[in-house]
Amino acid sequence: MISHKRNAYIAGAVVALIGIGLLLQVDFERWRLPGPFNPGHENLACNECHIAAIGTVRQQLQANVQYWLGGRRTEADFYYHKIDNKNCIACHNKDNDLHSSYRFNEPRFNKIREEMHPELCISCHKEHVGQRVSHFKITDCQFCHKELKLKNDPITVPHDELIEREDWHTCLGCHDYHGNHDMLIEKTVGRAINRQKLINYFNASESPYLGAVIKKAKSTRYEK
Ligand code: HEC
Ligand code: HEC
Ligand code: HEC
Ligand code: HEC
Ligand code: HEC
Repeated sequence: MISHKRNAYIAGAVVALIGIGLLLQVDFERWRLPGPFNPGHENLACNECHIAAIGTVRQQLQANVQYWLGGRRTEADFYYHKIDNKNCIACHNKDNDLHSSYRFNEPRFNKIREEMHPELCISCHKEHVGQRVSHFKITDCQFCHKELKLKNDPITVPHDELIEREDWHTCLGCHDYHGNHDMLIEKTVGRAINRQKLINYFNASESPYLGAVIKKAKSTRYEK
């Protein structure tokens, strides 16, 4: 009896998946956008990020049915590949990233990975929300830099004092996150870029940093 029910369930699931598969056959370019593009992405084609999954739809179906039956550890991509860092790095390749995402895969970052997933671009940069930085607050440096103390601190209010006062909004006023702006780091705390300008930048305004972007983005992932 039980196995009959199970077969009926699987048959139902397969039919549903085929239905979804047919829906997805529609050209992705015709899909409705779930929200406005983030700044800089307005002119990108959908398939610059939404890439077809490996294998035929039938193979993907089989792999997913196996997953549901417990014969496979991970869910398989179905029709479109789930977006991960590789999609972003295809155009945003920054070799000297100050906070390179892959470093956060190290075991010593296990706890922070559970808290905020700094190893994934889309943890901080969700797409289709019309914002440059969507899920990271300007004070979030505190997640990782609470213990910071510099020997011979060069700035007018030393780092440990800023931290003691919980002035976390000042950090991005002198440092960018990826180190991709060609700029001299300020030493006078009063000259740090102010909070409101940083918040506007996170939304969609121009960059408040004086220096130009060092590693520019490619306009298509096919570009060499
Ligand atoms: C810069 C990369 C990028 C481009 C270009 C892009 N998307 Fe997306 N899209 C994403 C990300 C990231 C997600 C989040 C889902 C995920 O992680 O797979 C997403 C999700 C979606 C979703 C699912 C929404 C949901 O709520 O699950 C749809 C539908 C979608 N995009 C449509 C489009 C269409 C239509 C275009 C072209 C007009 C497009 N996208 C272009 C990155 C992109
Ligand atoms: C097809 C190439 C391409 C892909 C794929 C792509 N981007 Fe972009 N991105 C661009 C371009 C071009 C710009 C605008 C030029 C610029 O500002 O450097 C841009 C701008 C941005 C900006 C704002 C940059 C700024 O200086 O203000 C962010 C943040 C960003 N992309 C993050 C992402 C993330 C996260 C992903 C992966 C989900 C992604 N991008 C995927 C090409 C791409
Ligand atoms: C923990 C949060 C976080 C993660 C994860 C993250 N970013 Fe950012 N990103 C930021 C913040 C904050 C800024 C704004 C400050 C700045 O410009 O550096 C930013 C700015 C940017 C910019 C514009 C400035 C520049 O450096 O060109 C781009 C492009 C970008 N991120 C791409 C990416 C990509 C690609 C990934 C994954 C490889 C990624 N980010 C991962 C927080 C994050
Ligand atoms: C998810 C954890 C995490 C977050 C969030 C984070 N950092 Fe870091 N940061 C690190 C780690 C890890 C290093 C590397 C330290 C090392 O090499 O041991 C680092 C290094 C740095 C450095 C020194 C780089 C160098 O080598 O000169 C600066 C500056 C910095 N972070 C500023 C910031 C600022 C500003 C913010 C907030 C926008 C921030 N960080 C948010 C983890 C983080
Ligand atoms: C007035 C500008 C200013 C402000 C505000 C500021 N910093 Fe710095 N920071 C500097 C300068 C200058 C250095 C030294 C850079 C160097 O030696 O290359 C530095 C160095 C660092 C380093 C590298 C430490 C090392 O051991 O090399 C980290 C990490 C850092 N800052 C994080 C932060 C965080 C987190 C905040 C917010 C609490 C912050 N900074 C606020 C200017 C600033």
